[in-house]
Amino acid sequence: MSVSDVEPLARGGYRCLLCDVRVPNSPSLNDHLKGKKHQKLLSVRSCRKSQQEKSLFVSGFHKGTSNLEITDYFQNFGTVANVIMDKDKGLYAIIEMGDTEEVEKVLSITQHCMNGQKLRVKHKETKEFKYIPKRKQSPGKKQWIDFEELTQGLCQAVDVDEQMKQLLQLFELTESEKTLRELIVSLLQEVFLEFFPSCRILPFGSSVNAFGIHGCDMDLFLDLENTKAFQAHARSKVETEEVNGIKEDAQFETQSEDSILSDIDLGTSNTAEVLQLVATVLQKCVPGIHKVQAVTTARLPVVKFIHKESGLQGDISINNRLAVRNTQFLQLCASLDQRVRPLVYAVRYWAKQKQLAGNPFGGGPLMNNYAVTLLVVFFLQNRTPPVLPTVNHLKELADEDDQCVIDGWDCTFPSNQSKVEPSPNSEGLCGLLAEFYKFYSQFDFAGTVVSLSEGKAHLVTDFIGPESETNLRLGPINIQDPFELSHNVSGNINERTGQKFKRQLDEAFKYCRSLQYQRKSNKGKIWGIVRLFQPLNSTDCSPAHSPEVDCSPVKELNHSGNVLTIPFKLSCLSEQTREKLHGSSDFREIWFNKVCHAVLYVMETVLKCGCTCTEGSGVRIDDIKISSFDGNGNDNDNDNEDNTGLKRKHPVEEIPETSSTKKARIETVQYRRKVTWHCEVWSRVWVGRRKMRRQLHFRTTEPDANTGEVVNSLEIEENVSAAILQQEGRGDKSSPLITFTLCAFLVGGNEDTRTTIRVTPIQHTTLFPEFFHFLESFVPKMAEKCFEKSE
Ligand code: UTP
Repeated sequence: MSVSDVEPLARGGYRCLLCDVRVPNSPSLNDHLKGKKHQKLLSVRSCRKSQQEKSLFVSGFHKGTSNLEITDYFQNFGTVANVIMDKDKGLYAIIEMGDTEEVEKVLSITQHCMNGQKLRVKHKETKEFKYIPKRKQSPGKKQWIDFEELTQGLCQAVDVDEQMKQLLQLFELTESEKTLRELIVSLLQEVFLEFFPSCRILPFGSSVNAFGIHGCDMDLFLDLENTKAFQAHARSKVETEEVNGIKEDAQFETQSEDSILSDIDLGTSNTAEVLQLVATVLQKCVPGIHKVQAVTTARLPVVKFIHKESGLQGDISINNRLAVRNTQFLQLCASLDQRVRPLVYAVRYWAKQKQLAGNPFGGGPLMNNYAVTLLVVFFLQNRTPPVLPTVNHLKELADEDDQCVIDGWDCTFPSNQSKVEPSPNSEGLCGLLAEFYKFYSQFDFAGTVVSLSEGKAHLVTDFIGPESETNLRLGPINIQDPFELSHNVSGNINERTGQKFKRQLDEAFKYCRSLQYQRKSNKGKIWGIVRLFQPLNSTDCSPAHSPEVDCSPVKELNHSGNVLTIPFKLSCLSEQTREKLHGSSDFREIWFNKVCHAVLYVMETVLKCGCTCTEGSGVRIDDIKISSFDGNGNDNDNDNEDNTGLKRKHPVEEIPETSSTKKARIETVQYRRKVTWHCEVWSRVWVGRRKMRRQLHFRTTEPDANTGEVVNSLEIEENVSAAILQQEGRGDKSSPLITFTLCAFLVGGNEDTRTTIRVTPIQHTTLFPEFFHFLESFVPKMAEKCFEKSE
């Protein structure tokens, strides 16, 4: 046993890290360590370790090179115990030699050459042995290739474009996988026809949308429309015959009596009843299918099953005609430009690695892959010139045969890619991926709705209030389905996931500006897209924080502009305010005023800074108040004097549009706004806050230990600042530590609803960078608390 396998737990007991097992005390730990499971895993680990030490990673050989050819070549250096070729593509191989000496012998040759090809040979990277308990393994789910394996393969590519193409090759469904899926569909179709006459099984989703990966689920739509018509017709015939006293004829007798359909009326029964029946047919009559389960309470009720031999998991739904159509739309997008697929695969893999999309263990709301794919399509619609056309433009190109309306939604687009002109855009994959992150890291997700129909973002206010036509469920990320216009495909996302998504986009954007992204490392370091894919929980998960990454252009940007950003948040506005705002641009002003009040409150009251307004004139601001912040339940009028002795005024100035902002604005934006304050900070309120918080016995979320009252975090922070001020003995406020200006802008044009606040030191002091760094995270967080409280 290695001591590091055992971890004492804070609440008593131990955890065996090797076996992922917890035990309550030392005797049970000893029992566990002597037990069968632990001993077996110890031996597996030691065997794997020795295998790894004897293994080589080899690439550079001809595609299609066989296992045997590789064995033949490497036998020249010793015993070849095993050769594992990479999945289906034959881009690399792992070779296990007889012992480590033979490995060194291979590596001592400077250049290996096989069948005229120069080989790249190196040690196989060692992976820490990790036991995955059976309950956490999903059968048949090969899915994404192991990250380390991928790293070794992709880092050999010559540039990012090649990396992206290789990524696609490594992950896409092979022809044999596609054939297997087609066979399963035919099998199901055949059996179901017996029970549901004239039914159709239509696959949709990643199995067929051109973005599938190995082992991805099979989404199937069981179309019972014709079956319903058949049943209705048969029933009316029986009724007529009964009325006329005619006996059922022999043919119909077989169809109705033997058919399972005699148990159910498809016209009147509900989804759950029909799905139960589908589950019965699957379980009892389809060979090679097991683990059938009807999940009727989900948002989209389905019958789940597993195809025994391949381990493939399938979902059958009965109300999903739109999904079949939007799958055809994605197929069309993929066929229109060959850059679409590599881009989508890269972004989907990145989203999966950063735990933003996919939901393997069902925890927390994540983006679905469909939403991620639509984001790529929207981005490509917004390139200049566009790589992909808008959905509305596609409608115009469609002819009569292509007309399609489902559930009242117009789903028309050309069935054939030849009706669409190829894009004149010639950007490379490397640049496009970097631009994708740039585009979305600057994107105002909360304030806008992504519309693929028009290829532009709309203000959220067009979608709120009773007059809104679409009734879209708005959230931190709003992506309108291209056809079902009332559906926000990322409507499940909560604030936290939204922020996580934003953070990861920023990180990726920063990384894509670095040399490590653009240029192959000649020192054998991880480079290009590979670093983008580092899993979130790996030790150096954040590319921008990794010591090896040079993000100098980004650092420069941060130093030249000390800017705080407060994103628009619809949930901060009351229902009443929202209704008033439908379709208007007023919400910008209201939001801007709210932000100004909140920021001023945070600076003056919470951080005890002095603030005087120096720029801007009073405009329509009086109706917005931040109330009940004084902790005594009293409303604070924002124009009253506060405890800093300074007049609180926050006039807002309307500033003229320049020609460039005019160009960028959308119809609803009529103004931009700006307000400036001169501020002073008298003590180091940003230092030792956590300690002070502890000293004051405050906890942000829990009730106060003495009074039992839930203490508001604004009040806590206010008390912390007051205590720091007192501790530093800087009550007289005669000589400020830092003087600076705060300048709030309403950005305005181009669908942007964020308020940005520039913080500029008036005199240079070494304290300013650390103070700004603190403000960067503190102000947006506290401003949010103010919004919550004021609503
Ligand atoms: P997924 O999000 O599962 O996408 O939605 P996917 O491409 O199949 O990826 P995997 O399965 O995670 O690998 C499956 C399909 O469901 C429909 C779309 O047709 C999508 O392709 N769908 C999904 C919608 O119509 N609306 C949604 O909001 C989500």
